[in-house]
Amino acid sequence: MYKQSNLDTSLNKLIIIGAGGFGKEVLWLIRDLRQAHPDFPEPLGFADSQPSTPEIQGLPVLGSDSHLLRQLDPRSTGFVIAIGSSSLRARIAQVWESAGFQAITCIHPSVRHSEYISIGAGSVLCAGSTLTTDIHIGRHVILNLHCTVGHDCRIEDFCTVAPGVHISGGVEIESGCEIGTGAVLLPGISAGKNCKLGAGAVATRSLQAGVTYAGVPARPIHKEPAA
Ligand SMILES: CC(C)(COP(=O)(O)OP(=O)(O)OC[C@H]1O[C@@H](n2cnc3c(N)ncnc32)[C@H](O)[C@@H]1OP(=O)(O)O)[C@@H](O)C(=O)NCCC(=O)NCCS
Repeated sequence: MYKQSNLDTSLNKLIIIGAGGFGKEVLWLIRDLRQAHPDFPEPLGFADSQPSTPEIQGLPVLGSDSHLLRQLDPRSTGFVIAIGSSSLRARIAQVWESAGFQAITCIHPSVRHSEYISIGAGSVLCAGSTLTTDIHIGRHVILNLHCTVGHDCRIEDFCTVAPGVHISGGVEIESGCEIGTGAVLLPGISAGKNCKLGAGAVATRSLQAGVTYAGVPARPIHKEPAA
């Protein structure tokens, strides 16, 4: 059986929420995963409230979340959210989980990590990433292609880490942060809730909550507008 400690073994199907570009990539991930672990839940289709196509690579786009929440049985069907926006993922997870659906963790078979790592439900770890030891990955985190995560890191719920990001040892990234493609975080720094780090940035100091940073070394570019 595919190992997900909190997964109810009667779940044998899953819905991919989000029929955009990342949805397609997650479908590829899941198809690879099912080749390695044939009992991993079978994708039934995509949920998307504004679908631009009726099917993607042979898998149907089944309709909106609200429609599917009424149609599907949470005892047999789980979900994974294939959407890059951290805040949108948090809202969608809340809706599906309060309706009783379980989030399914999707880890590409090429991802390497030690046994000293915890990964929360619904997280997606894409091909080629390497995570070493004493690492905590929260719920609904995306770790995109070819990232590295060093020892003693925490990446909390709903963080989005784009391709090719290097997270040094002892880094703490609080919930809802978005880290752009190819960014680097130096050892021991922390990133406050909902902050953003631009593509190609090097974070040499800790990042404040809600602030957007870019450049080398990373500097604030503007504050998030007040909610
Ligand atoms: C940093 C980021 C979040 C800022 O987005 P934004 O708030 O919409 O900012 P803007 O595009 O309005 O840019 C504001 C300024 O920052 C600069 N800037 C934006 N991103 C930058 C980056 N990554 N590095 C350096 N400068 C950057 C812009 O050139 C602009 O400068 P100007 O005011 O001198 O013209 C975004 O540009 C970014 O890098 N996102 C990561 C995207 C990514 O990697 N996605 C992964 C998809 S898989």
